[in-house]
Amino acid sequence: MEHMHFLNIYGFEITVFPKVYCPSDDSFMFCDVVISLNKKYECGLDVGCGCGILSMLLTRVCKHVVAIDISGTATRNTWYNVKLNSTRHKVSVVRGNLTDPFKSSTFDFIVFNPPYLPIDKCDLYVDEEERIAWCGGVNGRLIIDRFLNTFSRVLRKNGELMFLQSSLSDLQKTLEKLHEMGFEASVIFEKSFFFEKLYLIRVVRRWN
Ligand SMILES: C[S@@+](CC[C@H](N)C(=O)[O-])C[C@H]1O[C@@H](n2cnc3c(N)ncnc32)[C@H](O)[C@@H]1O
Repeated sequence: MEHMHFLNIYGFEITVFPKVYCPSDDSFMFCDVVISLNKKYECGLDVGCGCGILSMLLTRVCKHVVAIDISGTATRNTWYNVKLNSTRHKVSVVRGNLTDPFKSSTFDFIVFNPPYLPIDKCDLYVDEEERIAWCGGVNGRLIIDRFLNTFSRVLRKNGELMFLQSSLSDLQKTLEKLHEMGFEASVIFEKSFFFEKLYLIRVVRRWN
């Protein structure tokens, strides 16, 4: 039987629905960095919002927040937490693929904690919806590469992206690709866990 999970982080109550990614070390590491930012943004985007944990944190640093996930269960879960934490006036929730539904140059802050586990580490026996939450296909880079090819369209000229990458899915390749695209990418936080190292990458346009 599948259960709901409940947690409290930086004053936000978070309920996690069955089949939705349950916030873990990666999510918490991301939250710690977002909460410590002393910058304010106009419009933030949380890609792959899951239960909405990062969207909640974004409400502390952004005037408006948009949360998107490809899973309908995840978007319903985020909307539940938006209401639970009285943040309806600040957050919109959209079901869709990565940044596809949005107009160009919409966001000045984008965060993404992508599914990145290489397929050999994914449990192929769980159902499709659950697998989408953490499985990054062959090499763990399927969603990461799709995202890298599309995010810059919706990022404002002076905007910034923060996203998480694991040592399991080729950090160097990501940094090189971003460099080729004209972005400056730096690891601003890293932490070792049992079988991987997690890196939080900050990305801005080089000519800023
Ligand atoms: C590792 S979970 C992160 C969830 C949450 N942001 C957190 O930090 O706990 C990755 C999320 O990305 C979503 N996702 C996977 N592929 C996606 C896509 N193509 N477009 C949008 N979201 C996607 C999954 O459904 C899942 O909720």
